[in-house]
Amino acid sequence: MDRIAIEGGARLEGEISISGAKNSAIKLMAASLLTSEPLRLTNMPRLADTRFLGQLLGRLGTEVQEQDGPEGPETLLHTPEIISAIAPYDLVRQMRASFNVLGPLLARSGQAKVSLPGGCTIGARPVDLHLEALRALGAEIDLHEGYVYAQAPRGLRGAEIVFPFVSVGATEHAMLAAVLAEGETILRNAACEPEIVDLADCLNKMGARIVGAGLDVIRIQGVSRLNGTSHAVIPDRIETGTFAMAAAMAGGEVRLTRTRNDFIANLLDKMEEAGVDVVRHNDGVTIKRNGRRLYAVAVETDPYPGFATDLQAQFMALMTLADGESVIRETIFENRFMHAPELARLGADISIQGGEARVRGVPALNGAQVMATDLRASVGLVIAGLAAKGETVVGRVYHLDRGFERLEDKLSACGARIQRLKGDSTAEEAGFDA
Ligand code: EPZ
Repeated sequence: MDRIAIEGGARLEGEISISGAKNSAIKLMAASLLTSEPLRLTNMPRLADTRFLGQLLGRLGTEVQEQDGPEGPETLLHTPEIISAIAPYDLVRQMRASFNVLGPLLARSGQAKVSLPGGCTIGARPVDLHLEALRALGAEIDLHEGYVYAQAPRGLRGAEIVFPFVSVGATEHAMLAAVLAEGETILRNAACEPEIVDLADCLNKMGARIVGAGLDVIRIQGVSRLNGTSHAVIPDRIETGTFAMAAAMAGGEVRLTRTRNDFIANLLDKMEEAGVDVVRHNDGVTIKRNGRRLYAVAVETDPYPGFATDLQAQFMALMTLADGESVIRETIFENRFMHAPELARLGADISIQGGEARVRGVPALNGAQVMATDLRASVGLVIAGLAAKGETVVGRVYHLDRGFERLEDKLSACGARIQRLKGDSTAEEAGFDA
């Protein structure tokens, strides 16, 4: 299994180009099931997760072709017809978001059999809201032996769906099904993440009629068919925020380009509060920190536009060296502090009680061997390693490969001393999370 070795203490100087958003790309890929015409996605990240989904789509009847376009990596997806409406456990298990093929399969072919994704390291992560939304749209759903059997022989019909709490995946799933339903669907208490807006933009280009994406009420007027289109994936806000915190942790000056600073407004405000210099640009943001110790600040994770749970581990790493005590509250997932004991191996002083972590800043971290537990936790450990004295070796980096494109290359181009140590087994045998 590959590991990442970091020799801490190098300042970061330079520019990093941000890739397309993983969590948008995989939902957009699923949208290709809704039309018999080709969908061309540009600004595609090349990640383990997009490869997993490509494999699953291939089994369902999608021709998936990765190519280099004039503006970088792109993926062509073409599903002339659905050849199988079955998403097996071995593929859904590897990536939870594969579950989101259920809605499009049902909308296009009237039936589907999709494995339940199961729990994962950051929490139980049920899919009850997804299933309730599909039931409201008229699907008949049965659960047997770990599979969802869904049918809508006479097609889906529009409905009013009130989510009891905000779910990104359930909002996207309802959109992916409702676009081809008969009549109007209203989603209330919908998620407002930029990835929701991106999905709506792409679906609208495909001929869907969605208004309100990005607000908590989304209205969808169903249409009878969708067409192909070309769509550029939005920049990855989690990658942007992660490199912003890497620069703040290591010190130096890094400009993040081809991205949107408004997607991480909440994080940048918190970083400024902690004493980091932030310069916002049209195409990104510059992060500067020169020597001064940061101040401890409190954060609470919340649905967008609140502080993203996917940035919490990285922020905790940043706070380990701050002056004072930082209180970090995790409100989205019940078990998302697994990086804390690993950070403690580097010398961090963190205590956890329920969904609250108290991080008392220490003057220095010391390199050690640590183990990644999920995608964002693993990059939090890399960030800590950038500032720790001596060598930090992060194990199980297949987690990182799921969601960060060429992480070591991007950091080492800015002066980080980081390298991949090749191992002999792969992510596939190890598990899943996102
Ligand atoms: C998406 O997960 C992201 N994944 C996550 O990123 C992200 O952390 C999360 O949204 C929150 O922003 C993808 O987009 C692929 P939710 P999702 O439904 O859609 C509970 C990463 O590292 N819930 O908004 O699964 C759920 O357990 C990943 O890239 C139910 O109870 O998140 C959680 O506590 C990790 N029933 C809360 O809602 C349901 O039916 C919010 O989850 C659905 C969700």
